[in-house]
Amino acid sequence: MSVEIAIILGTRPEIIKLSPVIHQCEQQGISYTVIHTGQHYSDSLDTVFFDQLDLPTPEYNLGIGSGPHGEQTGEMLIEVEKVLRDEQPASVLVQGDTNSVLAGAIATSKLDMELGHVEAGLRSFDRDMPEETNRVVTDHVADYLFAPTEQSKEYLVEEGISEDRITVTGNTVVDAVHRNREIAEEKSTVLSDLSLTGRDFFLMTAHRAENVDDEDRFRSLLRGVNAAALASDVEVIYPVHPRAQDQLRKSDVLVPSQIRLVNPQDYLDFLLLESEADLILTDSGGVQEEACILGVPCVTMRENTERPETIEVGANRLVGVDPATIREGAIEMSQSRSEWANPFGVGTASEQIITAVSDQQIPDRQIS
Ligand code: UD1
Ligand code: UDP
Repeated sequence: MSVEIAIILGTRPEIIKLSPVIHQCEQQGISYTVIHTGQHYSDSLDTVFFDQLDLPTPEYNLGIGSGPHGEQTGEMLIEVEKVLRDEQPASVLVQGDTNSVLAGAIATSKLDMELGHVEAGLRSFDRDMPEETNRVVTDHVADYLFAPTEQSKEYLVEEGISEDRITVTGNTVVDAVHRNREIAEEKSTVLSDLSLTGRDFFLMTAHRAENVDDEDRFRSLLRGVNAAALASDVEVIYPVHPRAQDQLRKSDVLVPSQIRLVNPQDYLDFLLLESEADLILTDSGGVQEEACILGVPCVTMRENTERPETIEVGANRLVGVDPATIREGAIEMSQSRSEWANPFGVGTASEQIITAVSDQQIPDRQIS
């Protein structure tokens, strides 16, 4: 018998943000299969999250790995299509904006299956970002669009997507944070492991291609973070993504003195580091959201963000990569700790998504 839902994922943020969706399938007794493209494959970006988030080993791991965009996406498309043809799920879910999402979306759209896009309607309006192309294409071929906020729904409607395909659910990252925050407080020993006491450090991440692949931008960003840390007399903890690690290895970009490089962290350790940081400096999408949810001020080292809600509520500021602007933004944000409302929902996104997808399937099942 065919499964009801196929869940396609391939990278760290997709594993984290789809974990509550997988748990929901189990709670609601919906049959599902997980197809891992293998876009991320290092233990620290992959298996560690399956173990820690109590997820089953994916039925399929396509093992595609790294490569140029077209090659990586094309290989995923070929292999995903084969699995979907074999499994014949009624619906397929993808989350976010990676190449795995694009491949999953295109493969599904050519088959007789419904596509649901989790985290639909995010827009940076910057077509130089590969992720923007992936989001736009996926939204336009999806049958169900699960928008995290009213703002994302508005973008979709402005692009001509019919309102009856869109549901505002909140972001599943809230579900993941709610489920794991207390567990992190109980179980994680990361603060003592790194000889930190809490609120005595900044946390940074930088992995976006447009920042770390460009030596000048990466150097400038690191200088800015260092200047911010010197001004506040704190150390910066930087769990280094492999893309950034590659650049540090092969270029002469130097890591300034206040920045301590550590390996990518597992989810519980990273959540605790985020909660206990005085300030978060990042170019990550998920980290901007988590900082906002956890009530920790954030500066985003990019020229734009597809999470404008975090800026509107006062939790985040865009600072680009100019060292003086990073320093100034960091000083102001670290002094302006305040209460803001989390714009990403109350933690019921995954329940709403699975309920919507399985409800839609009932009429088809009764007819056939
Ligand atoms: C991808 C996504 C990005 C997302 C990020 C999450 C696209 C276009 N980009 O970027 O949107 O924010 O994942 O982390 O889909 N590498 C390893 N081990 C791995 C995976 C990658 O060492 O498990 C190294 C390889 O050298 C690889 C490089 O990292 O070439 C980049 O990996 P890739 O998956 O192409 O892009 P990310 O930068 O991870
Ligand atoms: N994250 C993690 N360990 C780390 C860095 C990030 O667990 O060392 C988590 C973080 O909590 C968030 C997600 O990874 O949920 C964000 O992924 P990433 O920054 O790789 O991608 P993006 O969100 O920018 O697509």
